[in-house]
Amino acid sequence: MQNFTFCVPTEIVFGKDTELSCGREVKKHGGTKVLIVYGGGSARRSGLLERIEKSLEEEGISYTEFGGVKPNPRLAFAEKGVQKGIRENVDFILGVGGGSAIDTAKAIAHGVANPGIPLWDIWTKKVPLKRTTRVGAVLTIPAAGSETSDSAVLTNEAIGKKSGLGTEWNRPAFAIMNPELTFTLPKYQIGCGIADIMMHTLERYFIPNQNNRMTDEIAEGLLRTVIDSGRTAIQNPSDYDAMSELMWCGSLSHNNLTGLGRAKDFSVHKLGHALSARFDCAHGATLTAVWGAWARYVWEQDPGRFAHYARQVWGIDGEEKEAAVQGIEKTTEYFESIGMPISLDGLGIGVQDEETLKELAMEATMNDTIRLSVIRPLDAGDVLEIFRKANG
Ligand code: NZQ
Ligand code: ZN
Repeated sequence: MQNFTFCVPTEIVFGKDTELSCGREVKKHGGTKVLIVYGGGSARRSGLLERIEKSLEEEGISYTEFGGVKPNPRLAFAEKGVQKGIRENVDFILGVGGGSAIDTAKAIAHGVANPGIPLWDIWTKKVPLKRTTRVGAVLTIPAAGSETSDSAVLTNEAIGKKSGLGTEWNRPAFAIMNPELTFTLPKYQIGCGIADIMMHTLERYFIPNQNNRMTDEIAEGLLRTVIDSGRTAIQNPSDYDAMSELMWCGSLSHNNLTGLGRAKDFSVHKLGHALSARFDCAHGATLTAVWGAWARYVWEQDPGRFAHYARQVWGIDGEEKEAAVQGIEKTTEYFESIGMPISLDGLGIGVQDEETLKELAMEATMNDTIRLSVIRPLDAGDVLEIFRKANG
C-alpha cells in the first residue's frame, strides 16, 4: 500500500426531507447571504427550490439566485455567476442539482473569493488558489460525486476544452442527500449516473496490483452494489432503497475512498471529456462509449488484474485470460442493459471520420504531451486506436 492522506471534511446530511434543514446547515457553516446556483429548471419544477428558500427564510438568511446552468457547464456562464455573487455581496454558494450545478457553484465560489482573477487562470493553475467562498450542495442526481469530491469540471467554449480543477478547496462544507429528490430523473440520466459512479471506481481499480486488499474490497463491494441497485433503479426510478444506495455510492466512489493507497488513473475520463467538449454529450454516456475499447486495448498488459475484477465483481470462474475477457464483456453488456451506449455511434454523434478521431486523440493527450493509463501507458497513437475501435 502506498502512503496516503485521506480527509473528507464535507458534512453529509442523508435521507428523507433533509433539504428542509438547508437553512440550519448554511447558518452552522457561517453563511449569511446565499447565492443559490441551479440548472435548467428541474429543481424549480419539483418544488425543491421553494422548500430551500423557505428553509433559508426560517433561519433569517437572505439569498439571491443564479439559475440556468447547462450540463457540461460553461466557463463563461460561471463567470457571470461570479459577477452576480460579487455584486450581491454573497458569502455562501449553494449548488442545487447534479455535477453541473455543483461544479458551477464551486467555480463561482473561487471567483467571488478572488475578484479580478480570471476563472480560467485559476482553472489552469496559472494563479494558485489560496482562498474560496464556502459551498453547500443539495444533490438531485447520483452521478458525478461533486457533492464530496475535490474536483470541479468546466468547459471553456472559446477554446473547445473541457477540464477539471482538482484541489481540496473544492470540497463542499455540507451535502444534503435526499434520495426522494431523484425520483423525477429521466431513465437516461439515471443510466449516465450509474455509469459515472462505476467509472470513478474502475478508473482507480485498474492499476497494477499494489497489495491493497482493503481498498480492493471496498471498490468491489461498491461496484456490486451499484450494479444491482442500478438495475432496480432503471426499472423503478422511485425505488427509495435503490436510489439511496446509488446516492451513497456516488459520493463514496469519488471522494477517493475506493482508490486509497495506490495511483489514480483517469484515462477514460480524458477520452470522455474530449468527446463532451466537441459534441456536448452527457458525461456518463461518453465514458461507456469508450470503456470497452479501452479495456480491450489494455487488458493483456495485466490479465491477472482484469481476471480478479471479473471474479470479484461478476462472479466469473475459469482460467485467467478467459475470465479477464469475460469480465470486460459482462461490463459492456451491463452498460447496454441500462441504456448506455458502447460506441461513438451509439452516443448519437454518428460514426466519425479519421481526421476527427485524430483530433480527439490529440485533445485527450494534450497534443501528445501526456501519457494516459497506468496499466499500459497510452500516447496519442494508442488513443487514436482506441477511438477507432469505439467508432463503430
Ligand atoms: O438542469 P436541470 O433542469 O436540473 O436538469 C438536469 C440535467 O439536464 C437533470 N436533472 C438533475 N437532477 C434531476 C434532473 N432532472 C429531473 N429530476 C432531477 N432530480 O439531469 C441533467 C444532468 O445534470 P448534470 O448536473 O449535468 O448531471 P451530472 O451530475 O451527471 O453532472 C455531470 C457534470 O459533472 C462533471 C461532468 O463532467 C459533467 O460536466 N463531473 C464532475 C465531477 C466532480 N466535480 O467531481 C467528476 C465527474 O467525473 C464529472 O466529470
Ligand atoms: Zn466522471
